[in-house]
Amino acid sequence: MADQAFVTLATNDNYAMGAMVLGQSLRRHKTSKKLAALIGPHVSEPCQSVLRRIFDEVRLVDLLDSKDAAHLALMQRPDLGVTFTKLHCWTLTHYSKCVFMDADTLVLSNIDELFDREELSAAPDPGWPDCFNSGVFVFRPSVETYDKLLQYCTEHGSFDGGDQGVLNGFFSNWATADISKHLPFIYNLSSIAIYTYLPAFKRYGSNAKVVHFLGKTKPWSQGLDAKTKEQSSGSTHPSFLLDWWAVYSTSVVPMLKEQYGDQAFHSECVEQAAEGLASAAAALHLSPPPLQPQPSSEERKQKWEQGQADYMGTDSFDNIKRKLDTFLK
Ligand code: UDP
Ligand code: GLC
Ligand code: MN
Repeated sequence: MADQAFVTLATNDNYAMGAMVLGQSLRRHKTSKKLAALIGPHVSEPCQSVLRRIFDEVRLVDLLDSKDAAHLALMQRPDLGVTFTKLHCWTLTHYSKCVFMDADTLVLSNIDELFDREELSAAPDPGWPDCFNSGVFVFRPSVETYDKLLQYCTEHGSFDGGDQGVLNGFFSNWATADISKHLPFIYNLSSIAIYTYLPAFKRYGSNAKVVHFLGKTKPWSQGLDAKTKEQSSGSTHPSFLLDWWAVYSTSVVPMLKEQYGDQAFHSECVEQAAEGLASAAAALHLSPPPLQPQPSSEERKQKWEQGQADYMGTDSFDNIKRKLDTFLK
């Protein structure tokens, strides 16, 4: 339907990379909805162009910032004041219904059925399940609601310094009023929850429809450390990380390449993609163990570690995925 859309937000080029991957993951799973991205003024021109190719609509919005250092410090996320900008999504009144998705989410199957839900539907937050997580939610754009939300911010602020605190304050009966507004957790599987309840992940994880790379470490910052050549620390499950890098390498890098031509930024992106894939694969023990080196595999492993994975050939996503499936079984 033309008047329904998935909406995301990116205020800088890093989150724009996330938005590109999210948009392409929605397209891969053949959504019939429109795709809209809200961007801040600091997203570079080439990134804006790529976003315009993936999304039906890219709208520049003013940055809104809670500037609430005290509450943000409690979450150890000083960077999240700017998530107030998310509230602009209520101004997209040319759509009758929307699903907001954080730029650090990845779609694993078609989720158009979310549009059968009403405002405000969301999944529980893994840290405090009586609050909803604001990384994925169904809403109805309305200037009236937008104005009320801004007024709520002025009068009450946000208990976490970001949008999630405001939205939970505003839609305060979410936990108890209407169970149909509770989205199943598989629509917003926070990657950190995997480790806090591993048996549940083993039982239900294969049903996941959306993975949310919640927390300080994002997929785009989780490649190999340039100096130590070790995987940078992070709590993300490597197979989801691999999924993210696979979409980035195959569906985003070619667009960045066209946009940047042979400029340095482009080779950085390719290198980053190779490192990301290598890092995720290494965490899944896809490369041979160092104690029993086989000459040809060792050579290959070295290439992986040097960020020269042959991800279009031997180390292609399909091959990795096949190995991964065997491993998971
Ligand atoms: N965001 C952004 N720029 C920032 C921080 C956040 O555009 O500097 C947007 C982006 O869409 C992101 C969302 O706000 O996914 C929420 O932030 P984040 O995902 O980092 O929070 P978390 O889910 O880790 O708590
Ligand atoms: C959360 C949500 C995120 C939100 C942030 C700040 O952890 O995942 O979407 O922006 O809190 O409120
Ligand atoms: Mn997020």
